[in-house]
Amino acid sequence: MGIWTTARRAEREQDRAGRELVDQLTDTWRRACEHVGLSHAVQVASGTTIVVPTLARADVSGPDPVLIVKLMPGQLPADFRAPEVAQRLSAALGCDRIRVEPRGPHWVRIELLTGDPLAVDVTTALPARDHSVSGAQVLVARDELGRPLAMQWDQAPHTCVQGATRSGKSVWCYSVLAQLARLDDVLIAGSDPSGLLLGRPWAGTRHHEWQATGSRDVLAHRDLLDRLVAEMDARIAELPARQDKLAVFTPARPLIVVVLEELAGLLRLASTTPTPKGEAKVREQLLHAFGRLVSEGHKAGMRLLVVTQRADVTIIEGFARGQLGLRLSFRVDDPEALVMLHGQDARAELVQHRQSPPGVALVQAPGIALTRARGPRLPGPSEDADYARFWDEVAGDVPARLHQVAA
Ligand SMILES: Nc1ncnc2c1ncn2[C@@H]1O[C@H](COP(=O)(O)OP(=O)(O)OP(=O)(O)O)[C@@H](O)[C@H]1O
Ligand SMILES: [Mg+2]
Repeated sequence: MGIWTTARRAEREQDRAGRELVDQLTDTWRRACEHVGLSHAVQVASGTTIVVPTLARADVSGPDPVLIVKLMPGQLPADFRAPEVAQRLSAALGCDRIRVEPRGPHWVRIELLTGDPLAVDVTTALPARDHSVSGAQVLVARDELGRPLAMQWDQAPHTCVQGATRSGKSVWCYSVLAQLARLDDVLIAGSDPSGLLLGRPWAGTRHHEWQATGSRDVLAHRDLLDRLVAEMDARIAELPARQDKLAVFTPARPLIVVVLEELAGLLRLASTTPTPKGEAKVREQLLHAFGRLVSEGHKAGMRLLVVTQRADVTIIEGFARGQLGLRLSFRVDDPEALVMLHGQDARAELVQHRQSPPGVALVQAPGIALTRARGPRLPGPSEDADYARFWDEVAGDVPARLHQVAA
């Protein structure tokens, strides 16, 4: 009996606190809605009155207060979520950010959050080894509601990742490549002048001969891209009758992930590389191979992963709009880079995104609108252990080498 009375008393107390919050916020709510354009002007006999969505109820039973609001005819939850609107409403309501969820067709639930829901660690769940790419979900990010954004890489589009220095690009790549390297029927190929992401950690693996690293030998990068183009052409020529794309992958004919780390830097190096008379400049040769891989690689079982500090025209122009499907922007300093990769919609995110902590990105994918999310990190004791763990993961792919050590 005692317990029930106490529970009922607590409930009454919460109802009262909820009503008080509504009273306290009603005025602010009205003015904020008018200010951000969530109000309607309605003609009545005595003139014009301004109506705003009704703040019906507040629920203070959870960790963060929740407002229950009735939409006006013609309004959608998305109207409240637009970054510009959401930021202004949060400021007016005295919280850090709001989370808006529909509640039936006519209501929204607005959670008033303090702190950043992305201030949590997201850890990569590594698939078991020897799995097939067609059976493994690769974790790309986790959104503010904690929902995973994951996809099968054989279904994935090409990817472009951009971000300023120290924004989290490499850590994200370690996590995603470690997930992919565990799959039997995936080959990690590509070009990396820095020689950190590709190269040394992969020595002795089946992937290594498909990777060009270092900045001394630009022609090695060109040769690698040419080899990938030749492989692509061969695959397309061998497509079985009545098939227009490669859809089944095996260890003998794997899905090829083509990593292009700092392509812009490579192109700069290439612009001064001498070529024999009559041959196209190396920069043009690289761009030509890149363009072909972008436009035809997908149907030949190739998935580009372009990593760059700043998505610039050279890179974006290589992509036809729809082919550059998965786009991630970690913190970028130049607002135009955000717009370059995500389009005009990203303008509303500029101010907030400029202050994103490492690992937090704006993510966009086919069927997924631009979303703030956190990229995963490999499991490990500290953030600085990511690279060592990546190395172990990748090198763990070498049964042959293990035998040699044992012998
Ligand atoms: N997902 C994450 N969660 C938490 N911390 C992260 C995350 N990603 C990156 N960091 C932190 O940010 C630091 C810089 O990340 P990273 O080396 O990936 O940056 P980068 O974009 O590759 O920079 P550069 O362009 O200089 O290579 C990491 O050492 C780590 O401490
Ligand atoms: Mg890096």
